[in-house]
Amino acid sequence: MTKFSKEITTLDLMLPGLFNGLTFTGFRALTVFIMVTFIFPYLLPVVFFVAIFMVLILKKSVRGLKECLATDGKYKGPIHDHLATIVNGLVTLRKYERGTYFRDMFVNDLEKSTNVVFNYYLVNRWIALHLDFLCLIFSCGATIFAVTMKDTISPDLLAYALTLLSELIMFFSITLRYSAEVESFFISANRLYKYTSIESEDLLVKDGDDTLSQDGVAWPWKGQIEFDDVTMRYRPELDPSIRNLTVTIEPKMKIGIVGRTGAGKSSIFQALFRLLDCDGGMVRIDGVNIADVGLHLLRKSIAFIPQ
Ligand SMILES: Nc1ncnc2c1ncn2[C@@H]1O[C@H](COP(=O)(O)OP(=O)(O)OP(=O)(O)O)[C@@H](O)[C@H]1O
Ligand SMILES: [Mg+2]
Repeated sequence: MTKFSKEITTLDLMLPGLFNGLTFTGFRALTVFIMVTFIFPYLLPVVFFVAIFMVLILKKSVRGLKECLATDGKYKGPIHDHLATIVNGLVTLRKYERGTYFRDMFVNDLEKSTNVVFNYYLVNRWIALHLDFLCLIFSCGATIFAVTMKDTISPDLLAYALTLLSELIMFFSITLRYSAEVESFFISANRLYKYTSIESEDLLVKDGDDTLSQDGVAWPWKGQIEFDDVTMRYRPELDPSIRNLTVTIEPKMKIGIVGRTGAGKSSIFQALFRLLDCDGGMVRIDGVNIADVGLHLLRKSIAFIPQ
C-alpha cells in the first residue's frame, strides 16, 4: 500500500511539474537553436558534438537515477511498517522496556532510506556538474572563435549570437537533466502497471450474501465448522501446509489444536478467513461453503485473536 501510494504521488504530483519544465526548456532550446543556426552557422558542427557528449553523460547517469528510485521504493515500505507497529504496540513496548530496540531498528531503516535519497541528489549533481563543465568549455571555445571572426560579422550581431549560444547550452543542459528525471520517474508507471497483473482476492460481496440470514438471524446461525478434505498451500510451487484435513467442530465446542512449530496450526486460520484459498476440499460453516460467501461477510462473522 505504501509503495502504491508513493508511485501514485510520483505520477500525479511530481511527473506533471517536471514534464511541464521539460517541454518549456525543450522548446526554448529548440527556438534558440534555430536562431543560432541563422546567425552563426559555423558553430553548428561543434554544437552537434557537444550534444553527443551530453547525451553520453546522460545515458550513463540515468541508470544511477533509476537504481536510486527503485531502491528508495524498497526502503520506504519498512519505515511505514515500523511506525505502524510501534504506534500499535506502544503499551507492550513500554511494558517490556523494548523502546530503545525498536527505536534503533526504526532509525536504521530511516538511515538506509535517507542514504538512497542522498545518493539520488548526488547523481543529479553529478549530471549537472558534468553538463555545466561541458558548457563552460564550449562557451570559452565559442567566445575565442567569435572574437577571431570579429571582422566578418558585425559586432552587435556577434554579441547577440554569443548571448544566444550561452542560452542554448544552458537550456539544452537543463532539458537533458529534466529528461533524465522524467525517464527515471517512469519507473513508477512501470511498477503500477505491474501491480495491475497481481491476482486479486475473490469478491468482497456476493449475490447470495443477503439470502443467508434465516428467520432474521444472520449467518452463521450456530457456528458449526467443517473442514472437508482441505488441502492448502501458500504458493503453487510449495508443498501443502495443510494436507487432507477433515474435522468437524460442533457449535459451542471449545477445542485446542496442538502440534509442533510449522505443523500448520496458524494455516488453518488462514484457510478459515480465506486469506488463502483451498487447493482441494472445502470449509463449511453451518453447512455453507465459505467459498460461496462474500469476503466481507465471512471475515466480519469470525473473530480471531492472534497468538
Ligand atoms: N507466508 C508463508 N509462505 C510460505 N510458507 C508458509 C507461510 N507461512 C507459513 N508457511 C509454512 O506453512 C507451514 C505451516 O506453518 P504455520 O505457521 O501454519 O505453522 P504453526 O503450526 O502455526 O507453527 P507455530 O507453532 O510456529 O505458530 C510451515 O511449513 C511454514 O513454513
Ligand atoms: Mg502459528
